[in-house]
Amino acid sequence: MNKILITLLCSGLCLSAAADIKRGQEVFKINCANCHGDKGQGLVGSNLTDKEVLHGSSKAEIEKVIKKGVLAKAMPAWDGILTAPQISDTADYIKSIMGKNLENGFMKVQSTVDSFPRGSLEKPYLIRTYMPVNGLSDDLFPNHGKGKEAPKYNHKSGKENPKKMIKPIAGLPATITVNFGSKLSYTFDTLECRLLYTWKGDFLNMTKYWGEGTGGSRKSFGYIPEIMGDVQFKTSGPHPFKGPVKFKGYKKEAGIPVLLYSVAELELSLKIKPGEEGEAIAEYRSNADKALSLNLPPNALAQSGKTENGKLSLSAEEAKHFTISYKGAN
Ligand code: HEC
Repeated sequence: MNKILITLLCSGLCLSAAADIKRGQEVFKINCANCHGDKGQGLVGSNLTDKEVLHGSSKAEIEKVIKKGVLAKAMPAWDGILTAPQISDTADYIKSIMGKNLENGFMKVQSTVDSFPRGSLEKPYLIRTYMPVNGLSDDLFPNHGKGKEAPKYNHKSGKENPKKMIKPIAGLPATITVNFGSKLSYTFDTLECRLLYTWKGDFLNMTKYWGEGTGGSRKSFGYIPEIMGDVQFKTSGPHPFKGPVKFKGYKKEAGIPVLLYSVAELELSLKIKPGEEGEAIAEYRSNADKALSLNLPPNALAQSGKTENGKLSLSAEEAKHFTISYKGAN
């Protein structure tokens, strides 16, 4: 009798715990996967499944880091964006994936709280960050999940206010942005696997991102840094390559970042460097074993193959290693 009761009780509880995890997973997919990877394996955000747990593994500690964020390390604060039940469910989901040790092929980077970070030609500076859309068309972002509006949550009263809806953060959440000093900066979108834009001059003003830095509390939710230089190249039109894209991580070759991704069966690596005129010289390597045709945006010039009507045709040999330079519009 008792046993039946316990079994019934447990199945009820276990079912509801499973439901929490499932709801948490949905919240995670929409708001967190951009940075932490679809399974929490880490992308521009840390791996949530490995041994390295920085902020504690109890549910209370996980909830706290979700609420407050780690502002100095580009983990946003979600208090006021997500509701308390959403944060609780997401913490349950994270607990359920902890210790799975999923692989992500990512190299570790150092974060900074410098509001005006800077790199140089010899030692480019790479940051994983939100970036402004910079006037680019929505059509370029088919892989970006659209965050949902959520009612504002008041943590003193513990109630939601459906009259006050908070918009998801407006910006590109998962970019890799690199600065080579005043000659060139570029933003690469890891969700679309695409070079989005380049600029010359100063790099970024991160003040909004790090807030005023007083005791980790912030006055606004403006996570998007400001571009400080003159925008040169902006992409447009169809994606250069055909097929589903997947960002694999990056490595450095003599200090220069090399971005790794695949498009369908094609494995690509992309190394971008500044040219003489401040153009971005993009060196692609691939495992292509047949001829390749790709779409070039305006102001892109391929150094091999044949370009006609915005399409570049490369022979199987050329497709293994080719270079495209991206110039400003003027
Ligand atoms: C803009 C990228 C970004 C987004 C979006 C983001 N995170 Fe993070 N998150 C990070 C980074 C970077 C860290 C590592 C912080 C550090 O090094 O201390 C982190 C750390 C964490 C940690 C702590 C891990 C540990 O080792 O203790 C948790 C938990 C977490 N995030 C959960 C979430 C959840 C849940 C969401 C969505 C509601 C989310 N994150 C959205 C970037 C992000």
